[in-house]
Amino acid sequence: MSPLNIVVGITGGIAAYKAVGVVRALVLAGHDVHVVPTEGALRFVGRPTLEAISRNPVHTDLYEGVAEVRHVAIGQAADLIVIAPATANTIAKLATGLADDLLGNTVLASEAPVVIAPAMHTEMWRHPATQANVATLRSRGVTIVGPAVGQLTGADSGPGRMEEPEVIAAAALERAAASARRDLAGRRVVVTAGGTREPLDPVRFLGNRSSGKQGVAIAEAARARGAEVTLIAANLEIAAPEGCDIRRVSTALELQQAVTDAAKGADVVVMAAAVADYRPADVSESKLKKDEGDGGMTLELVRNPDILAGLGGAPHDGTLLMGFAAETEPDDDRLLALGRAKLEAKGADLIVINRVGWHEGFASDENRVVVIGRDGEIVTRAHGTKASVADDILDVVVSESTTAASAADTTKEHEPTT
Ligand code: C5P
Repeated sequence: MSPLNIVVGITGGIAAYKAVGVVRALVLAGHDVHVVPTEGALRFVGRPTLEAISRNPVHTDLYEGVAEVRHVAIGQAADLIVIAPATANTIAKLATGLADDLLGNTVLASEAPVVIAPAMHTEMWRHPATQANVATLRSRGVTIVGPAVGQLTGADSGPGRMEEPEVIAAAALERAAASARRDLAGRRVVVTAGGTREPLDPVRFLGNRSSGKQGVAIAEAARARGAEVTLIAANLEIAAPEGCDIRRVSTALELQQAVTDAAKGADVVVMAAAVADYRPADVSESKLKKDEGDGGMTLELVRNPDILAGLGGAPHDGTLLMGFAAETEPDDDRLLALGRAKLEAKGADLIVINRVGWHEGFASDENRVVVIGRDGEIVTRAHGTKASVADDILDVVVSESTTAASAADTTKEHEPTT
């Protein structure tokens, strides 16, 4: 990545001392870092430290450098703004667009992507005001990193701890790279995420442990890269990303309907959702009662349609179909063989294979995948945060659709004209 001009905003929370690590990580990665601390931040960490680590002068006062119009110049020059830690107060100010200090002015005067790492006590993080402000920022495309769950300043612990500096720096650089790419601009991408639920009665369902995190990460990354994204969201355990057309579904049949509609004219369909293969043959209108005796219970299940196979089996010229194969197979070769068989059986163009288990794949924030192409060859291997895996998967989507498009052009060139 070529060197970026990065503004690191530091606000007045105790985690400010860890922001030095964010600055250092970005400087060591070769970027030109300008620190804009708030007055509060300077109570926790000294200006000389920030100047030494960033290797640049540090400004905080709105009324200094007026001749060089500093209050807008810093933001205008930025390629990326990272705010770590972001206190509840700063998050509220950013959500309202307040510009009563240099950092507020810098953010408003900038068109660069903004990444914030919230840090505060759990109660403050969970407060509806903070959550509403975070949702507002997210809807404007601000990337929120963390907060992590763990030890807070006092003896207490919970969600609110600032993410580790290296994680923040890596997420910020990923975001900048994705924004710079815009290589999915003008493309229509459909992503399914989450896990279906098949009702047994009004209070029970058969479901699976998919959280939807990987699918949501793919939708977010595709949007950041300029795509028009439809996200078919099946019972997500996390918030749906803003800026996407969200269609909520619950059962496999609902998902089938939604994805079949959305796939018409789409350039890419990514089937990341875990879809139930079976559903109860009958759905009881009232809560099922247990038998008086000690006997067990037998459920009759019927097959759900294989949605991906349905899309893959129908003509889908111009739509790249990507499936997922989540398998518990421990042996690498056999895992790949299962993925290849699935690619073939479903008529997909690409398949993402990931191992899942009690402790792997599902609720985790990390993933490890292998992507297989039409000819059964490994196209890429990716591991890391689900956000970075999402970007690696989209790199494949971009290169495969470019290859397909140029192959189509070549065919056209050789077609006899009538
Ligand atoms: O057959 P299996 O469930 O392992 O296949 C996984 C892939 O197929 C995923 O992309 C999933 O979204 C899709 N699928 C589907 N319809 C089903 C089951 C899975 O589209 N009934």
